[in-house]
Amino acid sequence: MTTDDEPKSPDAPSRRTIRSFVIRRGRSTAAQERALEELWPRYGVRFQNEELDLSSLFGRSAPTMIEIGFGAGEALLAFAQAHPEMNCIGIEVHPPGVGHLMLGLDAARLSNVRIIMHDAVEVLDQQIAPASLNLAHIFFPDPWPKKRHHKRRIIQPDFVALLARVLRADAILRLATDWEHYAMHMREVLDASGEFANRAGTNGFVSRFDERSLTRFERRGQKLGHSVWDLEYERKG
Ligand SMILES: C[S@@+](CC[C@H](N)C(=O)[O-])C[C@H]1O[C@@H](n2cnc3c(N)ncnc32)[C@H](O)[C@@H]1O
Repeated sequence: MTTDDEPKSPDAPSRRTIRSFVIRRGRSTAAQERALEELWPRYGVRFQNEELDLSSLFGRSAPTMIEIGFGAGEALLAFAQAHPEMNCIGIEVHPPGVGHLMLGLDAARLSNVRIIMHDAVEVLDQQIAPASLNLAHIFFPDPWPKKRHHKRRIIQPDFVALLARVLRADAILRLATDWEHYAMHMREVLDASGEFANRAGTNGFVSRFDERSLTRFERRGQKLGHSVWDLEYERKG
């Protein structure tokens, strides 16, 4: 399932109009460009409208986690390193971030990570089999702070339904944001879905997940004095 197609940019999206991202271009370093060419065959998985067979993709059957919008991949790299017993899937549309993560995976000689460079909405809908994942991380999704952009936020009822589809009963969903309004929105949408139980009680936030390593994005927020809200949900049986 891993292919040697050369990924210069995410695969062409379908015609859905409201997206949670805009593709930023032209900021890959030479090393990231090289990684996109040379390391993609090892770590990359092309988006296809066909469910992945995770056992053959990873060459083993193991609990599987997914990180959606991994940015430069610091959290995913650290998690995969700390959990060699797990298969890890990263989804990100920003090519320099994908290149950056692959450089880290190569340096750490990790073989338990695969990357899909495509819109996570379509990946969850079409490429991930129902009830196939044990854990999902979504850390600092784009907050789209302007009111007229709120519809672009990835955490919406339809997306939560997709998460519920791919997560097994008892799977864990972890989220973090440094935007208070988005934190309240996430909690409202997840609590309303009926598919997830808030592990901190209906109105609560959890303390920072110990293993969530600091990303560049979070560090920048810290310098600006931003607070962080962490949420943890369990997929109901
Ligand atoms: C604000 S950044 C945070 C990145 C990272 N999680 C961190 O904490 O540093 C959000 C990331 O999500 C990615 N993203 C947004 N919508 C996405 C989607 N639908 N599918 C895949 N990636 C997405 C963006 O490209 C961006 O890199």
